Amino acid sequence: MANESKQPLLQVAGLNAWYDRSHVVQGLDFHVDAGEIVTLMGRNGAGKTTTLRTLMGLVGKRGGTARFDGREFLAQPAHTRYHMGLAYVPEERRIVPGLTVRENLQLGLLGRKGRHDLARAVDEIAETFPRLKERLDQEGTSLSGGEQQMLAIARAMVAKPRMILLDEPSEGIMPLLVQEMFQLFQRMRSQGTTLLLVEQNVELALGISDRAYIIDQGAIVHSGVASELLDDREIQERYCAV
Ligand SMILES: Nc1ncnc2c1ncn2[C@@H]1O[C@H](COP(=O)(O)OP(=O)(O)O)[C@@H](O)[C@H]1O
Ligand SMILES: [Mg+2]
Repeated sequence: MANESKQPLLQVAGLNAWYDRSHVVQGLDFHVDAGEIVTLMGRNGAGKTTTLRTLMGLVGKRGGTARFDGREFLAQPAHTRYHMGLAYVPEERRIVPGLTVRENLQLGLLGRKGRHDLARAVDEIAETFPRLKERLDQEGTSLSGGEQQMLAIARAMVAKPRMILLDEPSEGIMPLLVQEMFQLFQRMRSQGTTLLLVEQNVELALGISDRAYIIDQGAIVHSGVASELLDDREIQERYCAV
């Protein structure tokens, strides 16, 4: 048992990805332990989004290995992640037009095996997201940008994933909601969800993270404990300025 608990929840080794002939992710090694919040940082174009998309099976030309709870999944088709308990909230939130908040949340349970009490699942998740609870019957796309981001996160959480990959969740969102969102991330962790975060908001992200990796030109150039990176202005200015 002691050995099992030492195994990272997500273990990535030699991850590579290409768009046509452009080699965008160049041999990344990193891991995320169960119960951690880990941030990937780096300036625009460094390869952060491509790293997440590659892990999710959304970049066709990829190489390396990725294990979730010990099981290799990188070569598997994209939909297998959902069943393993690995969820993804992309930068573009993909709230489905014409559907209410409630219906968008129900989409988070599509494809699950067996019968689900959709109403109960939505009620449960709404308790964690008071802003959504008040707006369940409103059209999803009528929400503010920040509320839509909350909806995208809630929709990922409905299926109770073990780990969520989040791409720039604070982008374009007003500060008050960003604070709320980061508090939510801490609550999610305390309830046992593991998070891999991509964030440009370095101070906020490091403030709630256990560890971070810095990516530059498709490679990891630095990694460390979040609190130490938070004090390292030089590294932040060199690699994280937008
Ligand atoms: N769909 C795509 N096709 C071709 N090149 C892309 C595509 N998406 C991103 N890129 C390029 O890949 C590099 C990494 O991009 P990205 O992963 O989006 O970086 P980040 O998320 O760190 O800003 C950039 O040079 C970007 O221009
Ligand atoms: Mg990006």
